[in-house]
Amino acid sequence: VKLAVLGGGAWGGVLAAIASRHGHDVALWEVDAAAAAALAARRASDRSVPGFRLPGEIAVTTDVVAAVTGRDMLLVAIPSAYVAPTLAAARAAAGPAPVVVCASKGLHPETGDTMAAVIEAAMPGARVGVLSGPSFAQEIASGRPAALVAASADAAVATGVQLCFGGGAGPLQGPTEYRLRIYTSDDVAGVCIGGALKNVIAIAVGCCDGFGFGDNARAALITRGLAEMGRLAERMGGRALTLSGLAGLGDLVLTCTGDLSRNRQVGLALARGDSLVDTLARLGHVAEGVGTSDTARRLATRLGVDMPITREVAAVLHDGKPPRAAVGDLLARDIGAE
Ligand SMILES: NC(=O)c1ccc[n+]([C@@H]2O[C@H](COP(=O)([O-])OP(=O)(O)OC[C@H]3O[C@@H](n4cnc5c(N)ncnc54)[C@H](O)[C@@H]3O)[C@@H](O)[C@H]2O)c1
Repeated sequence: VKLAVLGGGAWGGVLAAIASRHGHDVALWEVDAAAAAALAARRASDRSVPGFRLPGEIAVTTDVVAAVTGRDMLLVAIPSAYVAPTLAAARAAAGPAPVVVCASKGLHPETGDTMAAVIEAAMPGARVGVLSGPSFAQEIASGRPAALVAASADAAVATGVQLCFGGGAGPLQGPTEYRLRIYTSDDVAGVCIGGALKNVIAIAVGCCDGFGFGDNARAALITRGLAEMGRLAERMGGRALTLSGLAGLGDLVLTCTGDLSRNRQVGLALARGDSLVDTLARLGHVAEGVGTSDTARRLATRLGVDMPITREVAAVLHDGKPPRAAVGDLLARDIGAE
């Protein structure tokens, strides 16, 4: 495959390296000139995961047109808020029916559209795919086992992603490196909603843990979080079963319980009383759940979907509601059938 990876941050860098190791021809676009220069010269930037080295064969450019021209597949790994304008800039240079795969996890900040819908709108005629599931870039960079899901309405796109980043069948690549297991799915909406909303629930769980509410409360929040994710996914045309898979429950558990999760770190910081601005500056990487909480809250209201945890996370992050008051309001809600 001739692949262009758009975004040379933690996840884009690792995905570019994996595709290159599988023998694909990879170009990497990085918008930030200083980060691009660092990736080109020392093969890592300040955003790269610790110990990461970009393979020497990968050309790095700040010119999106140069990155995309002549490529069969585009893989997007930038904050979801910038996916639409980036693809609009790349559109003329991409062929008439490019394969465009999104690895970003979020929603369009104004419309609430899934990343798949954003691609369709920005690049009419594109063959759209989504890559999601439990994946801390840092663990994948060090070759540890992981399983992801590639979703597309076009089965050839899903298997193309599976091959590009998972490699074919066969033995392990080396004694300390395991192939990514990439499953396929045709439920694009379900996979998109799972990947976007788990970040919001992880902020709630981080806060719950920061308050010392214990293991019972954490398990309850994850489970009720999954329930509201499933309601939104179904309302948007996805299948509830998808939410019990890698892009739903799998990624939710990872993001809610793994200390490498930035969204969980945001929740822990809120419970300590740290300011959001300071917390985000300290993370140095995007924490998508912050923006997604507000977008998802508006989307849920518009679609008539009950999402109480998302609503409270958004109220804390965007309306200045004290986290303890949000907890109190969640626990005071009427209790019905599960
Ligand atoms: N890091 C992970 O483990 C991981 C795993 C799975 C999915 N993701 C998702 O991948 C996406 C990127 O995450 P990351 O961890 O690589 O983030 P990061 O903060 O490490 O990197 C962000 C990238 O986006 C670029 N960028 C920032 N502003 C931009 C703009 N205005 N226009 C174009 N590009 C811009 C940055 O230059 C950088 O290349 C997010 O949606 C995240 O949820 C991350």
